[in-house]
Amino acid sequence: MIDEAKVNDFLGRMVGELGAVWSAPLIVLGHDLGLYTAMAEMGPVTPADLAKRTGTEERLVAEWLANQAAGGIVTYDPTAGRFTLPAEQAFILADPGSPVDLVSAFRMGLLVADDRQRLARAFRGEAPLGWHDHHPDFYGASDRFFAAGYRAALVRDWIPALEGVEAKLRRGARVADVGCGLGSSTLILARAYPASTFRGFDFHAPSITAARRAAATGGMADRVTFDVASVTDYPGRDYDLILYFDALHDVGDPTAALAHARAALAPDGTVAIIEPNAGETLEENLNPVGRLFYAGSTILCVPSALAQEGRLALGNQVPERRWRELATQAGYARFRRAVATPFNRIFELRP
Ligand SMILES: C[S@@+](CC[C@H](N)C(=O)[O-])C[C@H]1O[C@@H](n2cnc3c(N)ncnc32)[C@H](O)[C@@H]1O
Repeated sequence: MIDEAKVNDFLGRMVGELGAVWSAPLIVLGHDLGLYTAMAEMGPVTPADLAKRTGTEERLVAEWLANQAAGGIVTYDPTAGRFTLPAEQAFILADPGSPVDLVSAFRMGLLVADDRQRLARAFRGEAPLGWHDHHPDFYGASDRFFAAGYRAALVRDWIPALEGVEAKLRRGARVADVGCGLGSSTLILARAYPASTFRGFDFHAPSITAARRAAATGGMADRVTFDVASVTDYPGRDYDLILYFDALHDVGDPTAALAHARAALAPDGTVAIIEPNAGETLEENLNPVGRLFYAGSTILCVPSALAQEGRLALGNQVPERRWRELATQAGYARFRRAVATPFNRIFELRP
């Protein structure tokens, strides 16, 4: 016997999910066409006002606004026939300084939808889906999404939480950012600590090309370098600080990576592992944030590690005790969680 009320409840929830999936391209479009920015500046608007300001087709804008109002992104005043983007929504969707770049996260979701066939092949064990195999636009979107969080918290909260690291960076330290992608984290640090030198490494050549371009554009190419290298073969010794930003769980042999870092570290150096937040058990992660992380993990992180030697696919929801174990195996004497936020954890490893 099936419970009809439960069927209806499930169906209702799934309709909400479908509405979200079909609205995702419209959120990205709202950003790309400048509709959110215009609404944030203009206050209550009619479709005609918004279409005129953004140089878009009024009839399409009217339909877009109706979708946005039904989804609770904008409000609708039927008396005035006007739509408003509330300040709180504008902060998330139309403020370049926002610590959460949701639009880039939506864009990432749309771009990985193209990976379905490759992912099915990975599930069947026919061919791996490596980090290099995603849509070429995916990497920029991923960089923008992560960078918003780093800009908000890295220099203000995370570096000061690492023992003695801020003072070293101010005096002049040698830093490696491993799995740096397009290098936003490296450049944020380089801007904040001009006496230090920074090396970014990643095995994805197109990301390194983009990172070099960003360093040159930012006028920092003299003390920030980016090179193609893997987590186990990048050059350099006596680093004061080696960081992994949302990267160590993506590699096939994280213990070998940590052991390489241990050998490349100065005797009193620090390794910082920046990871998505996660509970100690699967049950603790069964919530909306965990759901999102597990989706990313299934599509991106686990396939990335399975495509590499080692194939120790941690996924992005790694319990703290597992990181502690890996750190010990790689020869670190000290391990502690330095910071936890709703979305991130930062672990500090010392020889
Ligand atoms: C989720 S991305 C994070 C990128 C960047 N650190 C950030 O925070 O935006 C993971 C990065 O790890 C890199 N990566 C994965 N496996 C690697 C390996 N074995 N050696 C070097 N880089 C690797 C990928 O190329 C990718 O740039």
